[in-house]
Amino acid sequence: MTTDPVHWIAAGAILLLWLLTSTWWLRPRRGAAVPGDATLILHASQTGQALELAQMTLRRLLEGGQHAVMMSLGQAGPEHLRASEQVLVIASTTGVGEAPDEARAFVARHLSGKDGETPDLSGVRYAVLALGDRKYADYCSFGRAIDDWLGAAGAKALHERIEVDDLAPESLALWVRLLDALGAVEASAPPATLYHPWRIVAREHLNPAGDEKDVPGLYRIALQPEDGALPDWQAGDLFEISTPTGHRRDYSVGSLPDEGGVTLYVREVRDEQGRRGEGSGLLIEAVPVEGLLSARLRDHAPFHRAAGDGPLLLIAAGSGFAGVRPHAIEAMRAGRPVWLILGERRPDIDARTIEEAQGWADAGRIARLDLAFSRLPDGRGRYVQHAIAADGAALAAWLGADGAIMLCGGLAMGKSVEAALDGALGDGWLDAARAAGRYHSDLY
Ligand SMILES: Cc1cc2nc3c(=O)[nH]c(=O)nc-3n(C[C@H](O)[C@H](O)[C@H](O)COP(=O)(O)O)c2cc1C
Repeated sequence: MTTDPVHWIAAGAILLLWLLTSTWWLRPRRGAAVPGDATLILHASQTGQALELAQMTLRRLLEGGQHAVMMSLGQAGPEHLRASEQVLVIASTTGVGEAPDEARAFVARHLSGKDGETPDLSGVRYAVLALGDRKYADYCSFGRAIDDWLGAAGAKALHERIEVDDLAPESLALWVRLLDALGAVEASAPPATLYHPWRIVAREHLNPAGDEKDVPGLYRIALQPEDGALPDWQAGDLFEISTPTGHRRDYSVGSLPDEGGVTLYVREVRDEQGRRGEGSGLLIEAVPVEGLLSARLRDHAPFHRAAGDGPLLLIAAGSGFAGVRPHAIEAMRAGRPVWLILGERRPDIDARTIEEAQGWADAGRIARLDLAFSRLPDGRGRYVQHAIAADGAALAAWLGADGAIMLCGGLAMGKSVEAALDGALGDGWLDAARAAGRYHSDLY
């Protein structure tokens, strides 16, 4: 190695020049984000499936030598659409016929009628892949709304809208055929998303006394990966299992990686004929303890940690405890004040479910715990939204302007809780918190 300072200075100058020129070449170019001959892929996804299909679409087009770029629908405007040769929108529907969180800004700007004006997109060719599930009344309604908006703006459909019921393979095959017609080829590297074997290492029935009282079972299930080390994940992420019929079912991961494994809280589900739900049936009964199932961890950004360091209100009912538990633990470790509102059915039956949270409260690790039991004698039962309404002023004072809220549970409970929060905090608090990343909900 040379010790001559002249050599070192010359080498340094060359390195600096190289850094400067490559930074200049790689700089983001304003207004040229979507080159004119590119296919623009827009995703609107709540739990990640539309996002994965968008990534698959991108990979296939690139592999076929096509020029393609991908962005969130929420960040796109008419200028991006006009600048592209063709636009492929992959959009799911969530809530009760609602747009995924990442597309809310787009809805507010273009679909809610506030702006009024429909842009001229007559030079744009497009296709929509609408993800949904026929068990919801508003089937694929967000994908339909996007399709209608593009049509009204004069854009020309490359293909009629493809609607996908619960990821039905035959509908996804139509999309792949369309991509093939656009010059895509099967990506040589298979998606790195494939399922792995996971072993159920423990299963606890948390409310066995509920069996005689017609209360559906709640189970705590611990799982370990069968091959390789425990993967990493964040509070708020999902555990997706693949069923023998090829469907996927998502569960909130109720633990953190440093606890050494994945923990799920699974509610028993039965249809009118008494048949178990496909995913919960596997986890609760069909796969024995020490048995294996196919699953993977999935990133779920909409329910990652709420922004800021202010006080954190966590609200959950039943198996929704899984969603808030890792956030509670992280907040306690970080010294962030936590107020937890938990809903369950009966204190006698559900004692095991709430004992951990009760322990946090007893040890002074959380600022406050409110329990709402829905099935108390003499009509004294109440739900989490009643607990919020009962102490709305205290809640508003505690949260202040920089508090955050995270909510996990069933869809109907979510709507009632949001109404109660609007009542307690004043119209606009939730919207402002949502816009600032201080309100996250995971409703199913
Ligand atoms: C809480 C929740 C609400 C949903 N609401 C609807 C709905 O109103 N209409 C519909 O067609 N599908 C609905 N779905 C089904 C999703 O659109 C479908 O599972 C989709 O594949 C999810 O895609 P994503 O992971 O990209 O969000 C809902 C799913 C969940 C979990």
